[in-house]
Amino acid sequence: MTSHSLSERLPNVRGQIATVSLRPLALADAPAIAAAVDSSREALRRWMPWYRDDYDVHAAENWIDHALTTGAAGTAVHFAILDSNDRVIGVTSFEDIRDTPSRAMLGYWLATPRSGRGIGRVAIAHALAWAREESTIQIAWALVAEANVPSRRVLEANGLRAVGARGIDERGDTQLIYELDLRAPA
Ligand SMILES: CC(C)(COP(=O)(O)OP(=O)(O)OC[C@H]1O[C@@H](n2cnc3c(N)ncnc32)[C@H](O)[C@@H]1OP(=O)(O)O)[C@@H](O)C(=O)NCCC(=O)NCCS
Repeated sequence: MTSHSLSERLPNVRGQIATVSLRPLALADAPAIAAAVDSSREALRRWMPWYRDDYDVHAAENWIDHALTTGAAGTAVHFAILDSNDRVIGVTSFEDIRDTPSRAMLGYWLATPRSGRGIGRVAIAHALAWAREESTIQIAWALVAEANVPSRRVLEANGLRAVGARGIDERGDTQLIYELDLRAPA
C-alpha cells in the first residue's frame, strides 16, 4: 500500500454523502487542524491521549509531517473530514497497519462545534467504506474509553463490536477494544 495508490483511489470515497467527505490529510491543513483543536480543547483533553494544552499550528504541522511519513511507509492512512464547504472539521485515521491478514486501528475526532449531529457516524462509515473497497485491511479495531458513550455509539452504529478490554488507562478509564471484520459476509 503506497500513498500514491491511496490518493489515486480516494475520489471513490468522496461525495457518497453530500454533507461529509474525506480526503487525504495534507501539510496545508495544519492551520485548520490547529483551529479545530482550539475549538475542541475540553473534549480532546478528556478523550485523546495526544492532546496538549499548548497544541498549536506548529504541533499540527509536526503531527501531519509524521502522519505523511507513516502514510508513505504504508503503516497508516490519515483523512481530513470535510464539511459541505470543504472545511476541515476533524480527522479519521487507520494506524498501526500490520500483519496478514492486516489489522488497523481506527481513530477519529471531530471539532466540538460540529459534534452531536451525526457527522461522526457518517465520517466513520466513509472511512470503513474506503477500507473495504480500496485497501487490504481485514480487521478494523478501535480502543475507546468505556465512558465515551458518543464514540462507542459511533462504532456500534458502524458495526464494530466490543471484543474485550485493555485495562485502565492513565485517566482512570477502562479501555474497551472494538473490532469489525471488513471481509465478513454482510
Ligand atoms: C466521538 C465523536 C467522533 C462522535 O461524533 P459525533 O458526530 O459527535 O457523534 P454523532 O452525532 O454521530 O452521535 C453518535 C451517537 O452518540 C450519541 N451521543 C452523542 N452525545 C452523547 C452523550 N453525551 N451521551 C450519550 N450519547 C450521546 C448520539 O445520540 C448518537 O447515538 P445514536 O446514533 O444512537 O443516535 C465526537 O464526539 C468527538 O470527536 N469526540 C471527541 C474526540 C473523541 O472522543 N474521539 C474518539 C476517541 S475513541
